[in-house]
Amino acid sequence: MSTRFEFRTIAPAALLGGAVLLLLASPALADKTENKAEPPAGARVLDLPETPLNYSKLPLPAHFRTSQVRQADNTPSRNPITDHGATLGRVLFYDTTLSLNGKTACASCHLQTNAFAEPKPVSIGFEGKQVNRNAMSLINLRYYARGRFFWDERARTLEDQVLMPIENKIEMGHNLKDLVRQLNNDPIYPPLFEKAFNDPEVTQQRLSRALAQFLRSIVSYRSKYDQGLEKASSVNADFPNFTRQENEGKRLFLGRANCAGCHMSGGRGGALFFMGRPRNNGVDANVSRTDGGVGEITFNLSQVGQFKSPDLRNVELTGPYMHDGRLATLEKVIDHYNKEVKPHAFLDGRLRGRTAETPRQLNLSESQKQALVAFLKTLTDRELIADPKYSNPFRTPAGK
Ligand code: HEC
Ligand code: HEC
Repeated sequence: MSTRFEFRTIAPAALLGGAVLLLLASPALADKTENKAEPPAGARVLDLPETPLNYSKLPLPAHFRTSQVRQADNTPSRNPITDHGATLGRVLFYDTTLSLNGKTACASCHLQTNAFAEPKPVSIGFEGKQVNRNAMSLINLRYYARGRFFWDERARTLEDQVLMPIENKIEMGHNLKDLVRQLNNDPIYPPLFEKAFNDPEVTQQRLSRALAQFLRSIVSYRSKYDQGLEKASSVNADFPNFTRQENEGKRLFLGRANCAGCHMSGGRGGALFFMGRPRNNGVDANVSRTDGGVGEITFNLSQVGQFKSPDLRNVELTGPYMHDGRLATLEKVIDHYNKEVKPHAFLDGRLRGRTAETPRQLNLSESQKQALVAFLKTLTDRELIADPKYSNPFRTPAGK
């Protein structure tokens, strides 16, 4: 799959392409001002409140204030979330001028209404070309203890990750050096950098820090599940606000179906639905044509077929599912685990039957499958997807 390869090898390619991109930048900019007619660049209107919104001190429930959750927090001490920093990150996240032709923002592929995932199997980049993978949800990223990002974890930190889509030839196609110059000349940015970093100068490092702050501020903690957990004695007890079916689904998730065995790290305090590390869940049989996931990055054979999973919170809104968006619905996801796990030499032990060649079958009844889906839907956080502080701050769509 050549597109996939291009996507991975983007960093060196972007370096080589630097000179070319410089030449391309001017027609692209001219294009944009043309579309907007007048007045030019400054016409993009931001709708930000006088005092910044609260990103740094979220009123998290008790199950998010445990030592396990604190230990999972990957916020580096040199880049704490500030309200001004996250506000700047929010503007950058929604700004289409971060892409070479001014058409694609981070938010074009990471939609708030979809918990910052996207309802397409694979993403489409700034020039209409396909990315090989499904856009991941950006929920609770700060609580992924390994602090690594992408399905194959090729980004070592969030600060590294946020710059990669900008230079990715398919996604946004820009060049960081040119972009920094462009933002320094854009009337909206120096004042925002001044507030965030006490200095109006736009630099690559500040750009990265602000985007990472905004993403770490996106915490989902207001679902029906959270309300239930606050009232119950533990995650294992039946939740008083759940239906009988939702409680049955929760029991299956934690127990017989052992979804929690992979999807709940950091103990069973119940706050996090991240995996402890990437795993092989048998979406593909062991053949070389398929996306190798982590193994293609580490060149460690035993990691072929391993993928990170996004946090399962809001999973109702983040479909289609898996790294290439192959499963359209949650029902199909349950069918996969019920009896469609493929044999693979490195299939995770939890999904094996007697041998790797005979994957586990759960033999769930129809009503048990429905109960699992009903439980997954209790993880939906309607307040998050409507929260103005995570929404598009441009009054007019930027760059359009
Ligand atoms: C063209 C669509 C597209 C655009 C634009 C885009 N992304 Fe993504 N994003 C994706 C896809 C697809 C993945 C998964 C890619 C992979 O794993 O190889 C992803 C993954 C991520 C992840 C990893 C999440 C995790 O849990 O590991 C983060 C963080 C992220 N994007 C942030 C951003 C930011 C910040 C921007 C803007 C600077 C951006 N994205 C622009 C499609 C896009
Ligand atoms: C062996 C560990 C393991 C077990 C057990 C497991 N999963 Fe997964 N799950 C994964 C991995 C790995 C992925 C990502 C795979 C990929 O994208 O190719 C994943 C992905 C998912 C996704 C898609 C997430 C997304 O954003 O696309 C859902 C939903 C899901 N699992 C639900 C469940 C449910 C429900 C159960 C229990 C029936 C379960 N999982 C059991 C490892 C596991």
